[in-house]
Amino acid sequence: KIVILDFGSQYTQLIARRVRELNVYCEIHPFNKIPELDASVRGVILSGSPFSVRDEKAPKPDLTAIKGRLPLLGVCYGAQYLAHFYGGEVQSAPSREYGRAMLTVVEPSDPLMQGVPSPTQVWMSHGDTITSVPDTYRVIASTEDVRYAAFRIEGERSWGIQFHPEVYHSTDGITLLRNFVVGICGCKQDWTPESFVETTVRELREKLGDDRVVLGLSGGVDSSVAAVLLHRAIGKNLYCIFVDSGLLRKNEFDSVLESYKGMGLNVKGVKAHDRFLGDLAGVTDPEKKRKIIGRDFVEVFNAEAKQIENVKWLAQGTIYPDVVESASASVKGPAAMIKSHHNVGGLPEEMHLKIVEPLRLLFKDEVRRVGKSLGIDPQLLGRHPFPGPGLAIRILGDITPEKVEILQNVDKIYIDALREWGLYDQVWQAGAILLPVKSVGVMGDERTYESCVALRAVASTDGMTADWVHLPYDFLAAVSNDIINKVRGVNRVVYDISSKPPATIEWE
Ligand code: XMP
Repeated sequence: KIVILDFGSQYTQLIARRVRELNVYCEIHPFNKIPELDASVRGVILSGSPFSVRDEKAPKPDLTAIKGRLPLLGVCYGAQYLAHFYGGEVQSAPSREYGRAMLTVVEPSDPLMQGVPSPTQVWMSHGDTITSVPDTYRVIASTEDVRYAAFRIEGERSWGIQFHPEVYHSTDGITLLRNFVVGICGCKQDWTPESFVETTVRELREKLGDDRVVLGLSGGVDSSVAAVLLHRAIGKNLYCIFVDSGLLRKNEFDSVLESYKGMGLNVKGVKAHDRFLGDLAGVTDPEKKRKIIGRDFVEVFNAEAKQIENVKWLAQGTIYPDVVESASASVKGPAAMIKSHHNVGGLPEEMHLKIVEPLRLLFKDEVRRVGKSLGIDPQLLGRHPFPGPGLAIRILGDITPEKVEILQNVDKIYIDALREWGLYDQVWQAGAILLPVKSVGVMGDERTYESCVALRAVASTDGMTADWVHLPYDFLAAVSNDIINKVRGVNRVVYDISSKPPATIEWE
């Protein structure tokens, strides 16, 4: 495997995903917690960082166990670190270097540059620049502004590159990464969905034996893939619980429950509308809504789980981005909490269950690929993300059963149309929002005074940043018309054209 030491760059996870795309397993660790470097570690990548090496607080890891011993690739800050702290010099660049640049390969025979055409487009993003390097450093590629764009350290298997090979705009970045992880580090490209399934099923069997496991299904990709994987390992000892909060999409509970049963899962559907909607009555504050839903979910789930005799484990669909310990937390302090995300907190302590998380090593796109290799319906795997609190946070203000029904009908028209028009898969997430606003309209000869709904569709890769999607006007016109004609209580439709940041994806 490859170890990536994280210095807090926004691109660290992207490096990891690119390495994984090469079917090579890798792990991210914070720079100040270097893991044990046993024989399985074939090479190390140093990430970029929001810091300058000249900052007093800049991350300064101790690389003695790595540099000169294992293959090492420093990217951006990583490269500057290898220059600055080993006898070279890094200075503030006369002009900050962001964006496209053309890289000329000076030493095409260098193992890192094999097959990289010259010139090739690369992506720069740095305010500092390397101005001198020690004698043992050989320049292997340059751009017009950056002489030390890529260098090798003689007598070691260490390289530094000033640009970001992991971003899409670096055209041959993946070739360069392949040269490093496969050519230089000698990693085998055997991290595939099939090998993951095989190993995980074996490990789960060993770990769980004949124990019973309970898992909460949400209808989403992660919990579904986790369930099918566990089911393959332990069969009927997996007990799934699918709670209907009454805040799911229209007909979603029944149709998803059916498809779970079709996959052979032992699943119990629990209808708990009344409880959720009862507890939410009159509540308008978004964070309170989340807390109530989180609590109710735990209670409903617990009551069901307790009925399963002798259950020992709680399975969760946690994925890698949820568990990777980020260096930015240790260098910048924990990111400010914007919205609390309430899903299934609080279960284990109360029930004394051990936790099993079969997907904790995977990125989202890997979860989908594993799901595909497990034979899960592509439509389920391609579903948009849907928030745990469901439609509750898309009904602004207080929630009533009537409002839920209106929003479900609007949402169904919108989402069905996205599918019919072939737009669903081009959008990362879409949904409708019921606004606490009434406006005047006219239908036939009558004046109306009814609700307004907003449609939202965003492009994103991880939900952290997002842009609104330029859906075709014809599509929006057709959907708006359909909604206003078919859903009683709605006389106006608007389209949300805000990006995140500064807006968020959900309205609450
Ligand atoms: P925001 O609105 O913060 O949303 O831009 C980013 C992503 O997170 C989802 N989201 C939630 N998911 N529980 C969840 O499980 C929540 O409380 C929650 N709030 C937002 C949102 O749908 C989007 O995908």
